[in-house]
Amino acid sequence: MARKFIAAGNWKMNTTIKEGISLAQKLQDGKRDVNVVTILGVPATHLYPLKKKIKASSKILLAAQNCHHKVSGAYTGEISPAMLADLKIPYVILGHSERREYNHEDNALLASKLRAALDAGLKVIFCCGEALDIRKASTHVAHVKTQLVESLFFLSAAEMKNIVIAYEPIWAIGTGETATPQQAQEMHQAIRSMLSKKYGKRVAENTSILYGGSVKGNNAKEIFSQPDVDGGLVGGASLNADEFLQVINSF
Ligand code: PGA
Repeated sequence: MARKFIAAGNWKMNTTIKEGISLAQKLQDGKRDVNVVTILGVPATHLYPLKKKIKASSKILLAAQNCHHKVSGAYTGEISPAMLADLKIPYVILGHSERREYNHEDNALLASKLRAALDAGLKVIFCCGEALDIRKASTHVAHVKTQLVESLFFLSAAEMKNIVIAYEPIWAIGTGETATPQQAQEMHQAIRSMLSKKYGKRVAENTSILYGGSVKGNNAKEIFSQPDVDGGLVGGASLNADEFLQVINSF
């Protein structure tokens, strides 16, 4: 099994349902490389309406942007992995730096969210990445390793087939500043070697590792051409159909 090329959009807290449907329909109707897995990470309120509107034949998949670590219970305002699975949503994004920062999600909590998501049958796009001060101190690889060890590496090798890793340097998210293709490749290669040490070569070779942080139509090709970059997790540029189509067609 060769690893998949993936273009995942992260809409964050943007769009009305009407705008979201229109965006998804433009992507659905647009000319897309069918070998690229297209995933849309949309607000929770949009999952059901979009699920109904997107044709199965379009192969556009949906992702939630978060889920709770319990199956059910007294957790006002939360959505459980079982609820997402009930809607037949295949993916959930976990560990995005915005949730780590604004919602104080730490590595231990993310480990329990991963456990719960996989137990419910979801696939996980697991985000990792360093802040600018860590990059400046040149401890970024060690930082990402700790994130993976503490949140992910308790999983079995068999469970890793349901994991996509997204490396997102925080200093490149929404800033217009991208990591250079070399910086992305360096980290992606380091992550793949961590996977190889922990799970063996096969798992390492089969796990898709996405880059995120100001990926746009005009820089995606160069980033995706790196040998260990298997696609992107795209914020701002995924809100414009033409631009996101350009990203999807950049492999
Ligand atoms: P950006 O966001 O593409 O707008 O930088 C990426 C992300 O946060 O996933």
